[in-house]
Amino acid sequence: MTTSLIIVPSDASDDPDDILFFILLAIRNPSPRRLLSRLILAEKPGPLPLLGPLFSDIVTTMNILITGGSGFIGSHTTELFVKDGHKVRVVDDFSSGARDNLSAVAGEIELIDLDIRDYAALEAACEGIDTILHLAAIPSVEKSILEPLVTHEVNATGSLNIIAAARRRDVRRVILASSAAIYGDYDELPKTENSPVQPISPYAWHKLTGEFYGKSYGELYGIEFLALRYFNVYGTRQDPKSPYSGVLSIFIERSLKGEPLTIHGDGGQTRDFIHVSDVAKANQLAAEAEWPLPQIMNVATGNETKIIDAAGIIQQAASNQAGIVYDGPRTGDIRRSFASCDLLEESLGYRPLINIEHGLTDLVAHSG
Ligand code: UD1
Repeated sequence: MTTSLIIVPSDASDDPDDILFFILLAIRNPSPRRLLSRLILAEKPGPLPLLGPLFSDIVTTMNILITGGSGFIGSHTTELFVKDGHKVRVVDDFSSGARDNLSAVAGEIELIDLDIRDYAALEAACEGIDTILHLAAIPSVEKSILEPLVTHEVNATGSLNIIAAARRRDVRRVILASSAAIYGDYDELPKTENSPVQPISPYAWHKLTGEFYGKSYGELYGIEFLALRYFNVYGTRQDPKSPYSGVLSIFIERSLKGEPLTIHGDGGQTRDFIHVSDVAKANQLAAEAEWPLPQIMNVATGNETKIIDAAGIIQQAASNQAGIVYDGPRTGDIRRSFASCDLLEESLGYRPLINIEHGLTDLVAHSG
């Protein structure tokens, strides 16, 4: 990683209280980016006047490899890293992602078409990389039940390939996209990182296996490993086409066509829906933060939303009068799910910003 601190004298503020405030924050927050986000959270008059007396710009760049970078979460995350001046190499086999998702940054990234099951090619792609963000997966619980062997190869062996290649090519940090699915049906709420894990699908086992491999490699070889357990992510570029797509993407597509929404069960079941831009931000902060960090972090909002309420927000935003059709509940459906995101805030200085009403209304407006 290259870190440069550019110190520019300025007369933006010479208030001794501001300078003392800044120094205290600097001592408590050795990472420049964490410091900046803390400054913003502190609701002082804005970071630049405070930083002015000492420096006006901090640049931290890294060489990051993003697997699955052309997918739903991957493409949003790739855009964010590029915007921040990092050198990004994307590895993708385009099995569920699309080149079009990266059109905004096409000339600014290195794009390698490879399958993470191809270990030799993957190891070569890790050359010169500081940090890997591993998002490539077959992210479908249902597919993992129907095709456990092939999904194991991609999701579990694929994660081991990443971690092994990282070790061989001296990659400093590996961040694994994990999933709330590993908490299974255990009914403690909110889910904290210390809640018991109870995988009830091959997909959940694949993700948990990746977490265990990562932790082992951390202990054996000193790789900085962390797993981010995403809850229910929504936003642009999410595929609504399969019956097992995220409920919000299905509801938006149907609403825009003026079709009724199907709710399984009574609609009182809840989920912790997090906007993809908040997930991308958490990914970025996890890559940039100073070590040590917790090895497992929930990425969620801490709020639970009833499916019936989400349906109402979407119907209103889309002016959809077609109503709701109630169907039987899905087998094994979880009644309530939401997470504590205290650890995310304590470790990365970040709390997701987008509330569900705003996120959904905006998404409907941009999906037309
Ligand atoms: C997620 C996974 C799912 C997996 C489960 C296990 C996604 C998109 N789904 O499901 O594959 O089995 O975690 O942890 O990641 N619903 C409707 N109408 C619809 C679609 C869904 O009412 O048209 C309901 C579902 O019954 C559920 C809720 O909406 O109660 C959310 O469904 P979904 O978006 O699939 O997420 P999870 O249930 O969390």
